[in-house]
Amino acid sequence: MVRLICFVMAVLWLPSPSTATAQKDDLAARPPMGWNSWNHFRAKVDDASVRAQADAMVSSGMRDAGYTYINIDDTWEGDRDAKGNIQANSKFPDMKALADYVHSKGLKLGIYSSPGAKTCAKYEGSYGHELQDAQTYAAWGIDYLKYDLCGLRTEMRTAPTPEAAHKIMVDMYIKMRDALRNTGRPIVYSLCQYGDDAVWEWGTTVGGNLWRTTGDISDNYAKMSEIGFRQAGLARFAGPGHWNDPDMLEIGNGGMSAEEYRTHMSLWAILAAPLLAGNDLSTMTPETRDLLTNRAVIAVDQDAAGIQGDRLTAEGPIEVWMRPLADGSKAVGIFNRHPSPLTAEVDFHKLGFAHGVKATDLWLGKDLGSITTPYTVKLPGHGVLFLRVSQ
Ligand code: GLA
Repeated sequence: MVRLICFVMAVLWLPSPSTATAQKDDLAARPPMGWNSWNHFRAKVDDASVRAQADAMVSSGMRDAGYTYINIDDTWEGDRDAKGNIQANSKFPDMKALADYVHSKGLKLGIYSSPGAKTCAKYEGSYGHELQDAQTYAAWGIDYLKYDLCGLRTEMRTAPTPEAAHKIMVDMYIKMRDALRNTGRPIVYSLCQYGDDAVWEWGTTVGGNLWRTTGDISDNYAKMSEIGFRQAGLARFAGPGHWNDPDMLEIGNGGMSAEEYRTHMSLWAILAAPLLAGNDLSTMTPETRDLLTNRAVIAVDQDAAGIQGDRLTAEGPIEVWMRPLADGSKAVGIFNRHPSPLTAEVDFHKLGFAHGVKATDLWLGKDLGSITTPYTVKLPGHGVLFLRVSQ
């Protein structure tokens, strides 16, 4: 009887869906991993290319390394039917069948929309159709929604004050949060509004499991590094179920050197960033596959403690970033932002270690044994030494 009363009380005290913070914390207990169509395919994405990505995610070993979501970005949207239901355009003849195919591979399917009337690429958005769209996504078997502000800016521009514009945006993100919850299907909710109005401070209150902290990445070192290194100071806003998102990966798209892509992947792992590959998985080289599937690097990104790393020091172009890990060890990235090789000196005392440390070079998969402090290392231009360090 006492147990029954306790159970009833516990149920009564459960937070209601509208007061719980994220869409569901266990939905994105670790930063989401997968693939997104935008960086490589842009408007060319279609049913066949999405199926090819799902196939390649399995055959390349990426699924077994932890990549799960196959996310269709903008340009899938067609017209609404007479009842206002969104339909996919001719590139996607049967979205439900596509979801079934992706699920049959042990993967999940993501989709994209906007709280505005139009998406960034001027396709149909969800404005005024939020409940209906969420229900359609759930009926198709969608597992992830990227909700991209774009078209809503038209409405926001008519607001009399910045506060009123902010409210329009927040209300619309809440509207889709509630619509997704109403479906009863677990759907990861990815906010995309480029980090405006310090989204990291309120992203969880509108149900975000992740939120973009920046404008769009592009496939060059200047943009990638500007975005990545600008994440300093945001660590305390991330954690299991709610992540900062510095945008999708460009690894394998051809605009950066292997060294620069290693910097990209290392920095994203320290940042506990979502790892959404943005290349064509079906044609990638073995080098790209190895970069994306390095288990030791992925283990840092997916670490169970879910503590985002941060910058410790910046001396000119040499930056040292550190991420505390669940087993008490630390991931340490020593980055050279200069295009030419430079020598760096790392003082492990400053990283909280009392004396000599044990280190593994994560990219080489090499146990470096005990290393003494200060540790001197020569770094390639735009390169990184990525270590896992323990006492
Ligand atoms: C915005 C987003 C991108 C992508 C495009 C699609 O620019 O930031 O990630 O989704 O829209 O139109």
